[in-house]
Amino acid sequence: MDTIDTQAAIAIIERENDKQGALISILQQVQEEYGYLPEKILHLIARRTQNPESKVMATASFYSQFRFEPSGRFTIKVCQGTACHISGASKLLDVLEEELGIAEGETTKDRLFTLETVACLGCCSLAPVIMINETAYGRLTTNKVKKIINDFRNGRTG
Ligand code: FES
Repeated sequence: MDTIDTQAAIAIIERENDKQGALISILQQVQEEYGYLPEKILHLIARRTQNPESKVMATASFYSQFRFEPSGRFTIKVCQGTACHISGASKLLDVLEEELGIAEGETTKDRLFTLETVACLGCCSLAPVIMINETAYGRLTTNKVKKIINDFRNGRTG
């Protein structure tokens, strides 16, 4: 059963609908509220803003900031900034993709992990760095990354 509460989305649409650039602003605020853009809410946005569903979908799909699935419990951000890149960040990403069985931008089927890349996490002296939710893990090797993922899987951390 679809249990998504539409009240927050309706309030956002009513507040934004008459403003310029309303559609993008509505999509951004809905994603902030729900963590992603649920299909049911996309239909609601189309109806209430009197836009064709195809336009709402095309707009949401155009911008990489929008996601159509809820994030996993743990969001892993792999830094791809210069310091991390020269310290082997792309190897870390490869290992994570292999360990989790997903590509960048995806969420594992058990909804435990979402894998993302970012430009710089702001702690370059610890390169290469990943962040899991609010915690940074630095000076990583592929083996350390595997161990961290195992610890999260086994509930020893997080
Ligand atoms: S380049 Fe990775 S933390 Fe800055």
